[in-house]
Amino acid sequence: MQTQDYQALDRTHHLHPFTDFKALGEEGSRVVTHAEGVYLRDSEGNRILDGMAGLWCVNLGYGRRELVEAATAQLEQLPYYNTFFKTTHPPAVRLAEKLCKLAPSHINQVFFTGSGSEANDTVLRMVRRYWALKGRPDKQWIIGRENGYHGSTLAGMSLGGMAPMHAQGGPCVPGIAHIRQPYWFGEGQGMSPEAFGRECAAALEAKILELGEDRVAAFIAEPVQGAGGAIMPPESYWPAVKKVLAKYDILLVVDEVICGFGRLGEWFGSQHYGLEPDLMPVAKGLSSGYLPIGGVLVGDRVAETLVEEGGEFFHGFTYSGHPTCAAVALKNLELLEAEGVVDRVREDLGSYLAERWASLADHPIVGEARSLGLMAALELVADKTTGQRFDKSLGAGNLCRDLCFASGLVMRSVGDTMIIAPPLVIRREEIDELVELARRALDETARRLTHAPHMQEEPTA
Ligand SMILES: Cc1ncc(COP(=O)(O)O)c(C=O)c1O
Repeated sequence: MQTQDYQALDRTHHLHPFTDFKALGEEGSRVVTHAEGVYLRDSEGNRILDGMAGLWCVNLGYGRRELVEAATAQLEQLPYYNTFFKTTHPPAVRLAEKLCKLAPSHINQVFFTGSGSEANDTVLRMVRRYWALKGRPDKQWIIGRENGYHGSTLAGMSLGGMAPMHAQGGPCVPGIAHIRQPYWFGEGQGMSPEAFGRECAAALEAKILELGEDRVAAFIAEPVQGAGGAIMPPESYWPAVKKVLAKYDILLVVDEVICGFGRLGEWFGSQHYGLEPDLMPVAKGLSSGYLPIGGVLVGDRVAETLVEEGGEFFHGFTYSGHPTCAAVALKNLELLEAEGVVDRVREDLGSYLAERWASLADHPIVGEARSLGLMAALELVADKTTGQRFDKSLGAGNLCRDLCFASGLVMRSVGDTMIIAPPLVIRREEIDELVELARRALDETARRLTHAPHMQEEPTA
């Protein structure tokens, strides 16, 4: 089959996630056929540097034989069995043990799911169950953040703060409120990042008091907001949030679906920020995306109550702890550890990317270039001195993203924020190439946006 054949069938039969179906049908989807290391190949033979590690998940990079072999061996031995009804199997047991060894020391239990969204559904159930068991059934509210992302199931969407999703999803799960995000570039200009961070933490306390200090069960947040635009909070933010949560005895849920497994240079983003979460939903990098698997890492405080006082927990998934997915995840963690991948992000690649990425800050349409570990963002602006954004109708971010793709780089756009999160095995010279491709796309974006007749043009390959 040729590219057009795939595109025609795709248009006829396949509804893509987070996609304007009609627009994609008219444009035709890009057909990715192979991948190796940090590079994708499409059906036209183009080589594309995957600056997003798939969807923030291919931490070990593509083409790892060891993961294929782990899957094959497990498929031959026991392809599937469930973990309901008093049953377990070696891959689930071994993966649970491994995860608890890597996690902060107060975390010693794991509940497996098939994805990050299911992990956050599980979080909702566990948090409310915990407080009910504690004899405080009124403690039911969960506070999330505007522009936070926790998945696309009904619970995930409700915990997240993505306004367009709320608008389409019908009524959200009740008992979930949102506070402002610690997005200094977007919302905090005019004050120092540190003062802004404290102000955002104060918004948490204000919301707790508004809802009733005895009625708030948990606060959920990503260490660094990923899908919202690679938003690193000011350094003052997390310490202030921790204080507020302790004051009102509120559980902390740190969504590690993106930041977990090395993205910020520690096994978990919580460790980077010195957090002690009660619950940590994980997925994505857990298996480097080779097979779908997620879970919730449960801190002792919650686990002891659920175990000792809970009776049956009426929740679980057919694929909770799926043996083949678990075997691949275990091998993935072993490889990340044996190859020192996480340490390399912390000690070398994170600072190398930071330095190279910062070189883009001088570009005429870049208002800010920020990074942490192997996650980075560029804010596109029309006026560098005032930070004024481009007119929304110009679609600057999407234009830049399409130009990147056309020149061989996956860089994602969130509005006019460009983001990257490459595989953690990326090499220095590949980071150089990434930054070079990004600069070229910025140049071309600037050229098109400043030449009125070209403004609405689609980029060409
Ligand atoms: C922080 C966070 N939580 C949860 C999810 C949902 O994970 P999944 O798409 O595996 O359901 C995502 C997905 O991007 C995410 O970024």
